[in-house]
Amino acid sequence: MKKVFIKTYGCQMNERDSEAVAALLAARGYRLTDSETDADVILLNTCSVRDRADQKALNKMASLAHLKRKRPAVVLGFLGCMAQVRGVGLLQDLPGVDLVVGTQRFHHLPEYLDRLWAARQPIVDVAAEAGSESAVKDHVLDVNGNQRVTAFVSIMQGCNMQCTFCIVPATRGPERSRPIPEIVEEVRQLVSVGVKEVTLLGQIVTSYGRMTGGKSEFVKLLTAVHDVPGLERLRFTSPHPKGFGDDLVQAYRDLPKLCEYAHLPVQTGSDRILKAMKRGYTRDSYLRIVEKLRTARPGIGLGTDIIVGFPGETDEDFAATLALVQEVGFDQAYLFKYSPRRGTPAADLPNQVSREVKEQRHRILLNLINENVARKNAQRVGATVEVLVEGRSPKNPARLFGRTRTNHGVVLAGGDDLRGRLVPVRITRANRTTLYGELT
Ligand code: 5AD
Repeated sequence: MKKVFIKTYGCQMNERDSEAVAALLAARGYRLTDSETDADVILLNTCSVRDRADQKALNKMASLAHLKRKRPAVVLGFLGCMAQVRGVGLLQDLPGVDLVVGTQRFHHLPEYLDRLWAARQPIVDVAAEAGSESAVKDHVLDVNGNQRVTAFVSIMQGCNMQCTFCIVPATRGPERSRPIPEIVEEVRQLVSVGVKEVTLLGQIVTSYGRMTGGKSEFVKLLTAVHDVPGLERLRFTSPHPKGFGDDLVQAYRDLPKLCEYAHLPVQTGSDRILKAMKRGYTRDSYLRIVEKLRTARPGIGLGTDIIVGFPGETDEDFAATLALVQEVGFDQAYLFKYSPRRGTPAADLPNQVSREVKEQRHRILLNLINENVARKNAQRVGATVEVLVEGRSPKNPARLFGRTRTNHGVVLAGGDDLRGRLVPVRITRANRTTLYGELT
């Protein structure tokens, strides 16, 4: 039986794509392995959103190509976003690579592997495919053979926004949404095998169905999935702040299974830079969305993404970002140094910010965020919260791990019988990344 090792870089969409590829290959008789040394097929599912992600996968592949000299039979493949952007160039840069498969062609892997077993001739496929948004629906069991408690469900592919820093429209193509009944059916099936929580995934979920339906298609989808009996919790990511119209805010009031957490990528607190990024909102309109969500669901958890060092960002612009972070008090924030991406408008802007300044701003903002998050987490000590137990803690298998509705990870003591259960947990201590608690 041939063994496959898949390494995933980047976002949750990539994780989900890798899961689907794993399920597809498992159904064809491949065995998944978490050790690359004994794998017959090694696939890197890549990310292109920043240069560092690109470099990581390229370095990894260079070291694998080295290994291949000892084991020439092994198949090496690039999947996903970097494959899509670099295509055949990857074969030229890295001899030893057998497969380059783009973001709309994952489901052809079994057939490509068959071809490679029959004859070793490199295969590059980065074509667009109509209907590929519906091709990603297989799910895998966890490492212990259990169905997972939580699952990702891909609802759409692509993004039609034109944020000037972002490569994603080039890697993922234009927006294409799956029909509501198909998504609901996938959720029903997941629930029937024990899944309690689903996260609806897409590059810009708030645009779901916009190309085919009306303005509120995403809220219709949320409502339809919410009504699946046996589903306990519903999440989605990533939305665009612009997508939080009154109907979506109202959904936070009306849909009790919809968890009180929202990822609201602000990118910067400066109106000038927001405009240069073509984000389509202002600092004020963003803050109004935060306020509306907090009114609709008091205690809602808020997360964000921030880029420091976008071209032309001045000390004053950066100060506006610091002030916004202070004002909102995020529960989670991902911080990035601007990384020019070839072919995106911002890469060609004058006034690129120096590496030193980016690093300095990154340090300052990270400190502020860490202090804020630690303080907010400390305030949760003593509270009793609902936790969905996902299984053993990956870091400490003697403990259980679960999440609150506000998306905080919680470590607690307890037996395997709690897996998949919603339990009340009293928080006893907290650090910046994790809450610790006990069953009440
Ligand atoms: N440089 C730095 N960060 C970026 N992101 C997207 N493109 C870039 C880039 N060129 C960040 C944004 C986005 C997150 C997924 O990655 O903050 O929300």
